[in-house]
Amino acid sequence: MTDSPVKIGVFDSGLGGLSVLRELRRQIPAQPIIYIGDQFHVPYGVRPLEEVRRFSTDVTNFLILHGAKLIVVACNTASAAALHSLRRQFPEIPFVGMEPAVKPAAEQTHSGVVGVLATYATFQGELYASVVERFGKGVTLLQSPCPGLVTEIEAGNLDGEKTRAILKHELDPMLAQGIDTVVLGCTHYPFVIPLIKEIVGPDVRVIDPAPAVARQTARLLKEHGWLGQGSFRAEVDFFTTAEPQAMQRLLPLLAGETAQAKKAIWMEGKLV
Ligand code: DGL
Repeated sequence: MTDSPVKIGVFDSGLGGLSVLRELRRQIPAQPIIYIGDQFHVPYGVRPLEEVRRFSTDVTNFLILHGAKLIVVACNTASAAALHSLRRQFPEIPFVGMEPAVKPAAEQTHSGVVGVLATYATFQGELYASVVERFGKGVTLLQSPCPGLVTEIEAGNLDGEKTRAILKHELDPMLAQGIDTVVLGCTHYPFVIPLIKEIVGPDVRVIDPAPAVARQTARLLKEHGWLGQGSFRAEVDFFTTAEPQAMQRLLPLLAGETAQAKKAIWMEGKLV
């Protein structure tokens, strides 16, 4: 049987999901994609889980309306808040979600001390508690919500003074306690990997989950007979709930894509 490529939906609170999108483009370039960043509401990570769950349902409806048959929740916060409820509400849609990569970190650490960078909301969710419970035994996990970091990255500030100060403030105490691994539990953070590496040095491993998420997406597509084959680059449609210029300006830097970003509008709590 030859697979016939279906459109997949990818969403995040903003530009963070582009770290997953660029990996999807690397691994499965022939897959048509619709991406939406809910930049009107970014950051999600400081909001109550219930609110993020509501946004996630509406964003999912928008993606399905635009033809998405499989959805990648390219946001740890939305996965923590909404993945279970999305699977319940949309049983016909396969979802790929994200959880902080505590499992590989626990398997690979030698010092037994691991830093986890994620959002407040992700740390509060049951998903993180269950990951820690299942995989974190015998490992010391040092957690930081990196206040303000998502906002800097949304502004395209990947290596400026403020971004550096936030990261140093969080990572220096972790280094003092002996971390040899850092887990990036927020999809915005892979964009500052060069800066993180500069701060933690060559002996600390930094885990970006995007390649594993893209592999899982490809596996699921294959299973359904939906995988786009070959190196032909399919279309990506980019949407944002804020002004499109800001997203459009950063697409080349963050995703290596040049495309027109379009606007989706929240109207009376629904996305149109
Ligand atoms: N990129 C998101 C995540 O992976 C959310 C960041 C935010 O909006 O606070 O958690």
